[in-house]
Amino acid sequence: MSHKLMLVAGARPNFMKIAPLIRAANARGDLPPVCLVHTGQHYDEGMSEVFFRELGLPKPDHYLAVGSASHAVQTAKIMTAFEPVLLAEKPACVVVVGDVNSTLACALVASKLAVPVAHVEAGLRSGDRTMPEEINRVLTDAISDWLFVTEPSGLDNLALEGRAASSVFHVGHVMIDNLLHEVARLQEAPPGETCARLKKELSRYGVVTLHRPANVDSLEVLSNILRALETIATDLPLISPVHPRTRSNLAKLGRELHPGVVLTESLGYRDFVHLWGDAEIILTDSGGLQEEATALGVRCVTLRENTERPVTVTEGTNILGGVTTDSILAAYHTALTRARRSQRRPRLWDGQAAGRILEILVKELDARAPKPRA
Ligand code: UD1
Repeated sequence: MSHKLMLVAGARPNFMKIAPLIRAANARGDLPPVCLVHTGQHYDEGMSEVFFRELGLPKPDHYLAVGSASHAVQTAKIMTAFEPVLLAEKPACVVVVGDVNSTLACALVASKLAVPVAHVEAGLRSGDRTMPEEINRVLTDAISDWLFVTEPSGLDNLALEGRAASSVFHVGHVMIDNLLHEVARLQEAPPGETCARLKKELSRYGVVTLHRPANVDSLEVLSNILRALETIATDLPLISPVHPRTRSNLAKLGRELHPGVVLTESLGYRDFVHLWGDAEIILTDSGGLQEEATALGVRCVTLRENTERPVTVTEGTNILGGVTTDSILAAYHTALTRARRSQRRPRLWDGQAAGRILEILVKELDARAPKPRA
């Protein structure tokens, strides 16, 4: 049976999850080329195009150019732009990944048009409804037909929310598929100029990423975090590729940072792996980086009070550091008491998740397809 799959990507953390699904679909002989929709939620060269190039993603079949706006406006723009595309393409299924506004918006449009939806990276819950991503996760899962889960907590969360076990599949993590794929090719792609220079200048360093609205939109929280980072930087230089949201809030603070905190432009995927893969420690409020650090065994302190990815704490390298100066410093010192590299990796984080997802999807779609009359 030949099923046309429509894949949706919108923001930076989507692109590395889509790439392995496209590779796995192309590797099968029984599927037409996937139809790729890029909503344009992220649109800058550094937030979008560099990832398409480096990850070998095809040019999107549809680019919706929605851009930045408030949550309501952005979500609505994605929905109204996506609906005609879906009606024209008539895919067998829409595959959405992660927890950004594009994920929810496209899942909602598809489910209202009775097009089945597969959610990849389903079931994660922080329990914190002030996070926009938590709302996107809960709602996307509620309307998806198939829920592909990265870690055991996802199975528990979805069972608690009453989802039938027959629609939930623990398959591993497409983002880790992509990481392992790229790490195997890193030698062929030497670091770019900024990354190479910093690695040469600093034999030991930590890597920082900060972009959550809760951390960077409040100048008080941002100042508390910066105080901790500047204290750490007196011992270990820190390199931080800066997200556009953070850059504008740092400018509002209007003060110089300790010279041990080195800010760079946001980096492409490979440069960033070159950088954090060799770091002493990562300090981050990203969701995905907690998992990538665990997969490569790099120490990680998460600059949040909670995580929707608890396997990174129970089985991985992650420690919750909170957002106060003291709690971050305490977590940093605890992390340094641990081995520099851990070898433990959660179950099914083996580079094969995308293949498993497609295997299941094709079977499920076959089962739903109208049977030819005898
Ligand atoms: C979004 C996701 C978040 C993800 C993050 C990764 C939602 C609700 N949030 O948050 O889950 O972790 O992406 O980056 O979907 N901007 C640019 N260039 C771009 C894109 C954005 O300059 O290409 C600027 C704009 O000023 C924009 C701001 O960054 O207003 C924030 O972008 P937005 O997509 O609204 O949210 P993120 O904070 O990036």
